[in-house]
Amino acid sequence: MTSLSAPITIVRPEIIEFGVGVAPRLGTWAAAQGFSRVLVVSDGFNASRIDILELPGVITVFSQVRPEPDTDNLDLLLTVANDVRADLIVGFGGGSAMDLAKLASVLSGSAQTLREVVGAGRVAQRRRVGLAQVPTTSGTGSEAGIRALVTDPQTQAKLAVESIHMLADIAVIDPALTFTVPTATTAATGVDAMAHCVEAFTNRKAHPMIDLYAIEGVRLVGRYLARAVADGSDAQARAGLSLASLYGGFCLGPVNTAGGHALAYPLGTRWHIAHGAANALIFPHVLAFNTPAVAAKTKQVIEALNLKAGLDQASVFDASFAFCAGLGIEMRLSALGVAADDLGAMADDAFAIRRLLDNNPRELGRSDILSIYQAAY
Ligand SMILES: NC(=O)c1ccc[n+]([C@@H]2O[C@H](COP(=O)([O-])OP(=O)(O)OC[C@H]3O[C@@H](n4cnc5c(N)ncnc54)[C@H](O)[C@@H]3O)[C@@H](O)[C@H]2O)c1
Ligand SMILES: [Fe+2]
Repeated sequence: MTSLSAPITIVRPEIIEFGVGVAPRLGTWAAAQGFSRVLVVSDGFNASRIDILELPGVITVFSQVRPEPDTDNLDLLLTVANDVRADLIVGFGGGSAMDLAKLASVLSGSAQTLREVVGAGRVAQRRRVGLAQVPTTSGTGSEAGIRALVTDPQTQAKLAVESIHMLADIAVIDPALTFTVPTATTAATGVDAMAHCVEAFTNRKAHPMIDLYAIEGVRLVGRYLARAVADGSDAQARAGLSLASLYGGFCLGPVNTAGGHALAYPLGTRWHIAHGAANALIFPHVLAFNTPAVAAKTKQVIEALNLKAGLDQASVFDASFAFCAGLGIEMRLSALGVAADDLGAMADDAFAIRRLLDNNPRELGRSDILSIYQAAY
């Protein structure tokens, strides 16, 4: 772990615009590039304010992105995209909108189907359209990455597509767009961003080039999340979280998440708990479980969050649990409507997510996973 000599590939959108008030720069860029048929992929809320982006040309807005989108939602978008034949696709929303925009950019007008591109590096051709991403939550960091997630309604599993062709040409990150995010979503998505950083930092595949972003992302969340939860219009705090989210996105590409996200996914797929809320609930359990395997790095995480804990699992758990609960996040599975007799099936599902569990610094067996769900109930 964390060997400087380990090979790593870093990719980034060619242009990253960052700062309060930068949203109209997307329109300026798009006009300069000569784009004239734009498809904006958005949820209902963001679709109602696309004027902020000052986009040029003929604009079509797909406003039906659902939270944690499934393949039916993607199919609906692809029908529109195939019809519109845009030269620029813009993801404008949270991770759900940005992920669907990525998939539409490579699947619309293509002979390949979603099933044929699930996995890594399976998109056969460069996309023909431009791709821009504008995040309106600060959680997923999807604007900076090459991965998209969509739920299979049959199996309830998340299908992950990873392709360099889904990397945005430009990411426009305007923290002012996140002022309207409701308090509970702010808290949950902020912990999601932090979880990306922590899981990459303590990962089997952790790398010094990424550790730098990872620990700084944790520090930013430690410094600003409670402030943004208390006052959603605190521009400094919102900007800190937008940056933490971007850094989390930097962590996801080359290193990715691990046990925390693997255990959180069944909460979303089986019980429709929002991605951020699921990750926040699981976070203290996996941080504490992993402590014996990555003690020094866990200590750095605790310090970055400005918490007090020893190196024993109990005090790491107590401190990180109090951090999440203090943000108003619901930390009990029972209170989120999960049925007690589903915990076994949830453990089966989580245990099957090898692409993430194999990254975890400590072996998480099915019985360990079940114990965590029971403790979280
Ligand atoms: N591609 C990746 O690397 C990656 C990483 C992590 C998560 N994800 C995926 O991202 C999705 C979750 O994304 P998310 O957490 O950003 O949530 P989201 O995109 O589902 O949005 C959550 C809710 O907030 C609303 N919303 C968005 N912006 C708002 C704003 N500024 N003001 C008010 N309301 C707003 C949306 O309409 C929605 O109802 C999941 O599907 C998850 O699997 C992807
Ligand atoms: Fe996440």
